[in-house]
Amino acid sequence: MAGGMGDRMTKRIDDEIIQRINEDTSIVDIISNYVQLRRSGVNYVGLCPFHNEKTPSFTVSESKKIFHCFGCGESGSVITFIMKKENLDFREAVVFLGEKLGIKIEEGLIEDHIIIDERLKTYEINKKAARYFYDNLKGNVSAQKYLANRKLSGKVINQFGLGFAMDSWDHLYNYLSKDYSDEDLLRAGLIGKNKNSNGYFDKLRNRIVFPIIDIKSRVIGFGGRVLDDRHPKYLNSPDTNVFNKGNHLYGINLLNKYSDRKRILLVEGYMDVISLFSMGINYSVASLGTALTERQAKLIKRYGDEVFICYDSDEAGIKATLRAIDIMTKENMNPRIITLPKGMDPDDFIKEFGLAQFEKLFINSKNAMEFKVQTIKVNYNLDNLEDKISFTKEVAYLIRSLKSPIEQDGYMEQISNDTGISKEAIEQEVKGIKISSFNKDYRNKAIKSHMDPIHSKLPSGGIKAEIDIIKLMIKDKDYFEYISKHLHVDKITSPECKYIYSLLNLLYKDVEIIDKEVLLYQILEIPNLDRNLIDNIFLNNLEYQPTNINQVIDDLVNTVINSNLKNQERDLLIKIEELDKKDRNVEEDEVLKKLLWDLIVLKKELNPNN
Ligand code: UTP
Ligand code: MN
Repeated sequence: MAGGMGDRMTKRIDDEIIQRINEDTSIVDIISNYVQLRRSGVNYVGLCPFHNEKTPSFTVSESKKIFHCFGCGESGSVITFIMKKENLDFREAVVFLGEKLGIKIEEGLIEDHIIIDERLKTYEINKKAARYFYDNLKGNVSAQKYLANRKLSGKVINQFGLGFAMDSWDHLYNYLSKDYSDEDLLRAGLIGKNKNSNGYFDKLRNRIVFPIIDIKSRVIGFGGRVLDDRHPKYLNSPDTNVFNKGNHLYGINLLNKYSDRKRILLVEGYMDVISLFSMGINYSVASLGTALTERQAKLIKRYGDEVFICYDSDEAGIKATLRAIDIMTKENMNPRIITLPKGMDPDDFIKEFGLAQFEKLFINSKNAMEFKVQTIKVNYNLDNLEDKISFTKEVAYLIRSLKSPIEQDGYMEQISNDTGISKEAIEQEVKGIKISSFNKDYRNKAIKSHMDPIHSKLPSGGIKAEIDIIKLMIKDKDYFEYISKHLHVDKITSPECKYIYSLLNLLYKDVEIIDKEVLLYQILEIPNLDRNLIDNIFLNNLEYQPTNINQVIDDLVNTVINSNLKNQERDLLIKIEELDKKDRNVEEDEVLKKLLWDLIVLKKELNPNN
C-alpha cells in the first residue's frame, strides 16, 4: 500500500457522504439556528445573515435543499451555509453536520487517494468507451436503420450520446487495452473475464448503447439494447466503483440542463425518456430497470416541484407504480399518477398521439389515493351488490390509513357517490378497523406455521446476523425477495426472527412497504417473546452503507446458515455422546449409526471443500 499516515491530507470525503449530508439534513432546521425563518409558500424566508437588510430576501427551500438571498446573491447548500457561518472549511463543515446526523465522517468514510484514482480511471474508461460506441454508429448500417425506425434524429442521438457496440467479442477490449490494464477494465464493468481460457470479452455486443450520465456529466454506466426481439432486451452495467443503480436516474443530466424544474416525470424506460425529450418534454427520468429506491425518490423530489409517475400500462407497471407511490409517500411527496391506454408506454403514446394529447394526461392525472382506488375497482363489478360491499371494505382500509380526517371524509364521500353505499355505512366500516386488529388473519397464520414452542430455545451464534437479516427484510421488499430466495425460514433459529420472517412473507404478498408500527403491534401481542430482541429489531438502525449491500446480505445469509449448521452439529454430538456411553440394544445401535451418518453429511455441508 502506498501512503500511510503521511497521506492523510490527500484524503477526501466520499461523494456519497456529501450527498447524504445534503439530502438527510433539514436545511430549514439548521439555518433556523442562525436566522429567524418564517414560511412563505413552499419556501422559508428571513433576514439575510450575510448582508444588512430590513425586509427579508433570504430564502430557504427544503425541497431543493438550497438557500438563496435575492438581496446579495449569496446562495448554496447547507454545507456552504455552515462553512460561512461557522467559519469552517468544507471538510470541517461536513464533519460538523455529520455529527448532527450521527454519521461518523472520521471513521472509514473518508476514502484514500487510491480509491479516488481508481474511480477517476473508471470515469475515463467509460468516457472513452462512450466515444468509441458513438463512433461505431457511423459505420454501421443496421444500427442506423434501427435508430431511424424508432424515429430518433441525429440531434437526439447526439444529445443522449447513443452508440453501437460491434458484433464482436473483443472489439472494445482490444481498443481499450492499449491504454488500460485488464484490472482497470474489469473494474469498470464493460469487460468480462473468460473463466476457462483466461481471455477477456466485451459484455455489450451487437447492441445499441445508452450511456448513463450523472448530474456532473460523467459517464457512469451503460445500457445496451438488442436490435431485434432477442432476450435479454437490455443489458446494463453492473454496479461498479462509480455506479450504483439505486442512486441514479437515467436522463437526470439533461433534465438538470434544460428543465425549469416545475415538473418531473418518472417513467420506466430509456426509450421513454429519449422519446419524450425529443418531443419537447425535458423533465422525465427513468429508474434504471429496477424498482424505485428511496434515494431516487429523494433525487426526484429535489429536481421538480410537482412529481408525476407514468409507468407502462401493464400489470408490472401498476405494481411498480404502487411501490413508487409508497416510497414517495414515505419521503413526504405527493406524486400524481398518469394512466396510459392499456399496453402502452409513454414512448408509444407520444409517438401515436403527439405532445398535446400527452399534456392532457397531466390534467387527468390522479393522486395516490385515487389511483389506488382505481386499481382496486377493476377487480370488482360495482353493479353487483356483493362486489360493491367487498370493494367498499377494501377501500375502507385505504381510507383508514390516511392521516387527515378531512381527507378521510372527502374520500368517504367520493366512494359513497361511486357505489351508492351511504357515507355513514362507509364511515362505520372505516371506524371498525383498529390498527391493532389490522391483518389479524396474517398474525394467526404466521403463528400457526412457525411458532413451534418445542424449538423455542435461543442459540447465541448467528443471532446478530439474523436480526440484521430481519431488519433488511423489513426495510425493503427487494431485500426481502432476495433473502427469501437464499435463506429458508427454517434456517432461522430465533423464534422471534422466524415469526417476523413468516409474517413478512404474508404481508409482502399484498403490500410494497411494511408499516413498522403495524408490524410491531402484531408482534407485541404474542406472549413470551424476547423483548430485548424485538426492541433491537425495531429501535436500532442498520449500519450498512447502501453501496455494498449485496455483499453484506450474502455474508449475513452465510453466517446464519453456518451457525444453523453448527447448532445442528452440537445437538447431534450431544446425542451421539449419550448413546455412545451406554449399553446399546440393536435398535439403539441403528440410531447411533444414523446419527453418525447425519454428522458426516453435516460436516460435509459445513466444509464443502474437505
Ligand atoms: P421496457 O421493456 O419497457 O423498455 O423496460 P423500453 O425502454 O420501453 O424499451 P423499448 O421501447 O422496448 O426499446 C423498461 C426498462 O427496464 C429495463 C431498462 O432500463 C428498460 O428501459 N430493462 C428492460 C432491463 O434492464 N432489461 C431488460 O431486459 C428489459
Ligand atoms: Mn417500455
